[in-house]
Amino acid sequence: MTAGALRTLKVCVFLVCLVPLGKLALELLGVAGLSLGANPVEELIHRFGIWGLNFLMITLAVTPLRFMTGKNWLIRFRRMLGLFAFFYVLMHFLVYAGLDQGFDLSVILEDVVERPYITVGFTALLLLIPLAVTSTNRMMKRLGRRWQKLHRLVYPIAVLAVWHFYWQVKLDTLEPIVYIAILSFLLGYRFWRKYVRSAHPR
Ligand code: HEM
Repeated sequence: MTAGALRTLKVCVFLVCLVPLGKLALELLGVAGLSLGANPVEELIHRFGIWGLNFLMITLAVTPLRFMTGKNWLIRFRRMLGLFAFFYVLMHFLVYAGLDQGFDLSVILEDVVERPYITVGFTALLLLIPLAVTSTNRMMKRLGRRWQKLHRLVYPIAVLAVWHFYWQVKLDTLEPIVYIAILSFLLGYRFWRKYVRSAHPR
């Protein structure tokens, strides 16, 4: 793919990644009869959480997709997708902390300590911060091989994120189970490629 085509595609992908945010904004403003329903704060927490999780899965899908298709340029989208995952998860947290808990630090801390699903989600968010901070080219160069090691944190983060989702569900566990299956495939593929396939080359 030429540099120009890649740049155009990057702009398109960037705009597509903003669609969930744009839709939420239209619903919040009540444009064209759209609405967030009876409990807008709950709906915002829900949507930002789901999109944070979706972008984490999409980010993890880049490498398997690259190996399966041989399209190495796919890797050029991974950082942007990862940063969108961080952005949506951060919004999820900020809506919870600000609109749900009124930025009352003692209540938030109590939740983090006493509600296991929040402890798990909060750990995932904390672990995402160093990845977002070190996502620049400069940090990549500065950290060298340590950068790759650090960014392997995305695997435990994804596990924690799916676990958090599973734990907060009250009745219907189907949706989190679908995410567990997707994540198992994404991590299982890497394991197979690294250990099984390389031990039995065709
Ligand atoms: C990687 C980090 C995280 C991801 C991917 C994530 C994702 C999700 C998802 C998918 C849901 C379910 C939405 C629904 O179906 O209603 C959810 C719910 C929730 N999350 Fe997170 N979350 C993360 C971190 C956090 C953090 C840091 C907090 C707060 C400290 C938090 C607080 C909540 C709350 C309060 C709910 C709603 C539970 C309910 O409806 O009773 N999450 N999260």
